[in-house]
Amino acid sequence: MGTTKERSENRKALRGMFVTFEGIEGCGKTTHMGLAAERLATEGYPAVTTREPGGTRIGEQIRAVLLSPEHGNMGPMAELLLYEAARAQLIAERVRPELEAGNLVLCDRYFDATTAYQGYGRGLDLDLIERLNEVAGQGIEPDLTILLDCTVETGFDRIRSRYRSRAKTGDAEGPDRMETEDSAFHGRIRKGYLTLAEKHGHRIRLLDASGEVEEVHGKVMDCLHEALKGRS
Ligand code: TMP
Repeated sequence: MGTTKERSENRKALRGMFVTFEGIEGCGKTTHMGLAAERLATEGYPAVTTREPGGTRIGEQIRAVLLSPEHGNMGPMAELLLYEAARAQLIAERVRPELEAGNLVLCDRYFDATTAYQGYGRGLDLDLIERLNEVAGQGIEPDLTILLDCTVETGFDRIRSRYRSRAKTGDAEGPDRMETEDSAFHGRIRKGYLTLAEKHGHRIRLLDASGEVEEVHGKVMDCLHEALKGRS
């Protein structure tokens, strides 16, 4: 696992850059990560994009187990360990090799999601989660985390309109297992993320994501440009 100093040296040894996108349901992180990747490519910074849970063959299968609304009886500990298992695979199979090859990796969620959802949301022990995050993350911390913040109501309005437009195209897919949790659960997650942003101010950039896509995209790009400038 190593000390904080060892972890930071480990990170420096990686020539690439690891950027994660976080936030509650409907905050827009998937949209904004995609837009950022497109824009960065045009600027000569091609990025590898991936997601959690998922991003590998094994991880995508774990994702299906985790998010299936049929698994409403999944216990919080099994849930935690499955997220960590998907992460361990993603880091070993994709993230570490890409960073070692000097690439820029953008990841839709990472270990802050576990602290926010399983820690603050489910109420599991935060120290245990920190240890498991370190084990599964294999010492790899993001260089930058973009936290897109909006209210639970705004997030769920967006999710509802997403499902309405999908239904019009004949896609009958409904909310996943996490999205069907009540608003108190999602409120605790938002608070958890805000607490993390205060605690890890050096790494987490908190952005107001309640505005229009173009406006938020501009703020995301400002953060990315600043981080890239700091490394060149
Ligand atoms: P998303 O890709 O649509 O954000 O779906 C992933 C879901 O899994 C979302 O509800 C957040 C949740 N999640 C956790 O609860 N813990 C985790 O560690 C991660 C990565 C995601």
